Amino acid sequence: MDLRIEDKKALISGADSGIGWHTARLLLNEGVTVVITDQNQQQLNDAAERLEAKPGQLHAFAADITSVESLAQLHASVKAAVGAIDILVQSAGITGAQGLFHEISDEGWTNTILVDLIGPIRLVREFLPDLRTGGWGRLVMVASEDAVQPYDDELPYCAAKAGVLAFAKGLSQTYASEGLLVNAVSPAFIHTPMTDAMMQKRADQLGVSVTEAIESFLDDERPNIELHRRGDPDEVANVIGFLCSERASFVNGSNYRVDAGSVASI
Ligand code: NAI
Repeated sequence: MDLRIEDKKALISGADSGIGWHTARLLLNEGVTVVITDQNQQQLNDAAERLEAKPGQLHAFAADITSVESLAQLHASVKAAVGAIDILVQSAGITGAQGLFHEISDEGWTNTILVDLIGPIRLVREFLPDLRTGGWGRLVMVASEDAVQPYDDELPYCAAKAGVLAFAKGLSQTYASEGLLVNAVSPAFIHTPMTDAMMQKRADQLGVSVTEAIESFLDDERPNIELHRRGDPDEVANVIGFLCSERASFVNGSNYRVDAGSVASI
């Protein structure tokens, strides 16, 4: 499907791997001019190379989304490279502090909330003026199934992602009349470096192979993933791409689950 956004410019965070990287690839294929950002410039350059974009179609600038100063620098670089962006995809995030509530330190809480909630808010605040320029904008926030179905061994992450959903929904009320549509996407158990690390840790703890760790995780921890497998990052990028597009012109304030049924409620 032609998404009708070939003249648009997009910024994607958390884009040196996983869902962000696959979203960059999808938008590049749609003819969008793309800026990818993540923490490490070298890894970002490698990621950009793997995207095999046309000359001038892709730019890569490192930034830390938790830092106001770093985001201001990123904005200056983006402006110089492509001008104002029309599309922002916020995909940066971490699993954060894990364990039961009594096992998580104050630092574990504050760091997870900083990266998974405050950082995304700072990123949006920095680029909001761009998105409001020109009467057409798309903002997609990557949340998680954990936002509406919390798991008691990762409460800081759940709380941060619930905050992301509330933030996105509230924001969608303010700017839609100007043409800026705001939506969220909530994946579950996608095959990215984030869940690779989780499954390696689980395999080490249980003394089993990573494949066995994935199987037991699906059986015991995610029984409602009816397809009984990890999702592919492209399967999330497809939905993000749609929400970034002209095809989603009447979609605002929504939360699209890409979780194969993992969230048990309707
Ligand atoms: P990933 O680990 O491949 O990508 C996340 C990226 O965020 C990394 O490249 C990392 O360097 C970057 N990042 C972390 N802290 C940052 C900071 N302070 N500043 C800038 N960049 C930073 O993982 P994945 O799976 O692609 O995650 C993307 C988003 O999807 C995250 O927000 C995650 O919470 C969410 N998600 C992922 C799920 C999964 O199963 N993989 C399930 C539900 C949500």
